[in-house]
Amino acid sequence: MREDGWREKIGALKREKGALILAHNYQSPQIQEIADYLGDSLDLSRRARDSEAHMICFCGVRFMAESAKILSPEKTVLLPRKESLCEMAAMVTLPELKALKSRHPQAVVVSYVNTTAEVKAESDVCCTSANAVKVVENLKGDQVIFVPDRNLASWVSRFTPKRIIPWNGYCYVHERFTPEDVKEAKRLHPQAVVIVHPECRPQVVDLADQVESTGGMVRLARELAEEEFIIGTEEGLIHRLRRENPGKRFYSAGPARMCRSMKYIRLEDVHLSLKEEMFKVELPETIIERARTTLDRMLRYG
Ligand code: 13P
Ligand code: SF4
Repeated sequence: MREDGWREKIGALKREKGALILAHNYQSPQIQEIADYLGDSLDLSRRARDSEAHMICFCGVRFMAESAKILSPEKTVLLPRKESLCEMAAMVTLPELKALKSRHPQAVVVSYVNTTAEVKAESDVCCTSANAVKVVENLKGDQVIFVPDRNLASWVSRFTPKRIIPWNGYCYVHERFTPEDVKEAKRLHPQAVVIVHPECRPQVVDLADQVESTGGMVRLARELAEEEFIIGTEEGLIHRLRRENPGKRFYSAGPARMCRSMKYIRLEDVHLSLKEEMFKVELPETIIERARTTLDRMLRYG
């Protein structure tokens, strides 16, 4: 079936079921087009919580759909493809976090939203790349365990006198941007503003003019008067920037980088997901209750 056909069928099912389609900025162009809301992890958590729809079809990765379920347990939350798993979220497990906590009993635990629901439930507060600095600023105590992203931990530590105890996780997509890539992109486009995601390595962050979440990049690209931008994040976001700012030019900081897990979902998967109401995100009630406190706290702080 052609794309138009899938779009029509999805639209009809969405109306029939009263569903809302949320999509992350890294989704493929076809999915970005059918989304009711396209955004970063923080935007999408808020949309999920505030929406009146009783069914949410989440086009992103599992931790995002889990966060939607945790914030709105009464809603049916669907993840169209089971394989959509964030590889960074798998880098810290519950036993590992418990062991780290026992080594630093005084520390407050901040978990990046890119974690499993179990890890969130064992944390004090969550953060996203958009609010990590604010969340840490708001915490009492001078020691912070920060899991799982070592690069976001390093970014946050630039803004706080608190001792940050990082975990050694990372995002394989963002780690592939190198300082040499950024320098070469700057040589080719000397007028461009360099904006990178805080999941990039510190040496890459050092070369950037701005460090932002994907939502922050969307806002800056719209608001800044400059016309050229070098972007250090996944290619789906660059597609969005080009579509929304036709008069401006966007270049990847080095070769385009793709997150495999963000690209599994196709139009036919969204259709099947709405039709068969699959794959429902189900979590134990105790995990939902505890993880919800950490996400609610995050939404209050930042
Ligand atoms: P954002 O919250 O900035 O959209 O980032 C999510 C993510 O997974 C980045 O790799
Ligand atoms: Fe996870 Fe990296 Fe993909 Fe983001 S880009 S979803 S952190 S693997």
